[in-house]
Amino acid sequence: MVKIERIKTYVERLDEHIEGGIPKGSVSLICGMPGCMKSSLAYSILYHNAINEGRRGLYITLEQPIPDLKLHMAKLNMSAESENLTIVDYNTIEEEAKSDMRFETNWMKRVKNYVEDVKRKDASLELVVIDSLNALYSLTMVTNPRKEIYYLFKGLKDTEVTSFLVSEMELAEKRFSRYGVEEFIADAIIHLDLTRKEGPIPELERYLCVVKMRSTHHDLQYFPFMYEGDRFVIYTKKELEL
Ligand SMILES: Nc1ncnc2c1ncn2[C@@H]1O[C@H](COP(=O)(O)OP(=O)(O)OP(=O)(O)O)[C@@H](O)[C@H]1O
Ligand SMILES: [Mg+2]
Repeated sequence: MVKIERIKTYVERLDEHIEGGIPKGSVSLICGMPGCMKSSLAYSILYHNAINEGRRGLYITLEQPIPDLKLHMAKLNMSAESENLTIVDYNTIEEEAKSDMRFETNWMKRVKNYVEDVKRKDASLELVVIDSLNALYSLTMVTNPRKEIYYLFKGLKDTEVTSFLVSEMELAEKRFSRYGVEEFIADAIIHLDLTRKEGPIPELERYLCVVKMRSTHHDLQYFPFMYEGDRFVIYTKKELEL
């Protein structure tokens, strides 16, 4: 049997439902509507892999300023500093692009070049988050989405990092991504959903579903999804029946 190396999500109980983790070297979309904890999940995967396994991660935040992101993660009890987790923003990539001989103006290529450069300088880089694809698109003129997105995804795969791309979904939107092509090119889709539970006082409940994960047997269930203490947890039928 072919043995695929996997990266743990550190979401309690999820890894055992996806053969131990996300295939190494794959490109995953983490998608959902506003506030469904896309950034928190992406960060938590890098954070726990850095702290527990010493895996080097790079978090590219193109929307939320670094101090805001850190504050939010500290509120979620993910505040330990680790030399294995680097956070960069728009300015870092802009400065790097300016000092580069190629002086690339297209942001899709800038980000790809940036990840390639970091990996060239530090071969131990394993995990990359781009938060978010929508913010990246807004920085550049995307004239041929299928082609440009293909080259971004291919560039990430060629560097052999395992990447997580945050994709924002509009309320009531069925597509998992802006152009709809991302979901076909990506190796995995993790959908975070917020659905309304009716009652005297209706409330939103969080769910997680692995919609797609190549080379992996996975359930297609929408698992109740929560943040407990310092980690995410999913609940399966087994726990809910107890
Ligand atoms: N302890 C906590 N402290 C702060 N926020 C919390 C906490 N627990 C849960 N949350 C939730 O985290 C949500 C924000 O998470 P996050 O920023 O990861 O979401 P997002 O999907 O990335 O949002 P956006 O679409 O705005 O980028 C808040 O709306 C809040 O409901
Ligand atoms: Mg976010």
